[in-house]
Amino acid sequence: MRAMRSIVILISGRGSNMQAIVRAAQTEQWPARIAAIISNRADAEGLKFAAAQGIPTAVVANKDYPDREQFDAALRLVIDGFAPDLVVLAGFMRILTAPLVEHYAGRMLNIHPSLLPSFPGMATHRQALQAGVKVHGATVHFVTPMLDHGPIVAQVVVAVLEDDTEQSLEQRVLVEEHQLYPRAVRWFVENRLSIEDGRVHNSAAPHER
Ligand code: GRF
Repeated sequence: MRAMRSIVILISGRGSNMQAIVRAAQTEQWPARIAAIISNRADAEGLKFAAAQGIPTAVVANKDYPDREQFDAALRLVIDGFAPDLVVLAGFMRILTAPLVEHYAGRMLNIHPSLLPSFPGMATHRQALQAGVKVHGATVHFVTPMLDHGPIVAQVVVAVLEDDTEQSLEQRVLVEEHQLYPRAVRWFVENRLSIEDGRVHNSAAPHER
């Protein structure tokens, strides 16, 4: 049997994607353990859930550091203290410097609420409504130094409705994110994913997708 994989999840707020991953790891009995939940904000709502689950938590507050480089250096020390095989960004609202991202090359995932490469950056649901696209969604990708780029692991498509508001669209995408992200993390944990020429190959069987 393959050794247990260790996962560290980074959040900044609510942490609903983190919760979905923690729950799936438990109920589906992944060969993985959530080693820690780390936040850049002490008041992140998701930390309460993590603590209630008995998962170690840590806060590395970006406001305590004079610049990105020093914040990222501190963050890296804390993350590496948990020796993760995988680092999962789940609503982690910080742009990471290239040295940090490169340190976790091939073992850092992010979820972005759009069908990348459309609508990188913030306010993706507003961007989608303004562009008038008829389908929107979410993307899980490996993190590279370029923001919201990087090899795509999985995407989910959500129809845009005539009467959608930013909030209603966000809500429907979020429900899908909670299915998509745990699935993608599970593929990583099960060693299904490989990157070739910037594209992700997935050896999971169709019924496991
Ligand atoms: C999600 O929409 C995610 O795609 C984006 O930020 C939001 C985080 O929500 N990156 P939560 O903290 O997981 O509830």
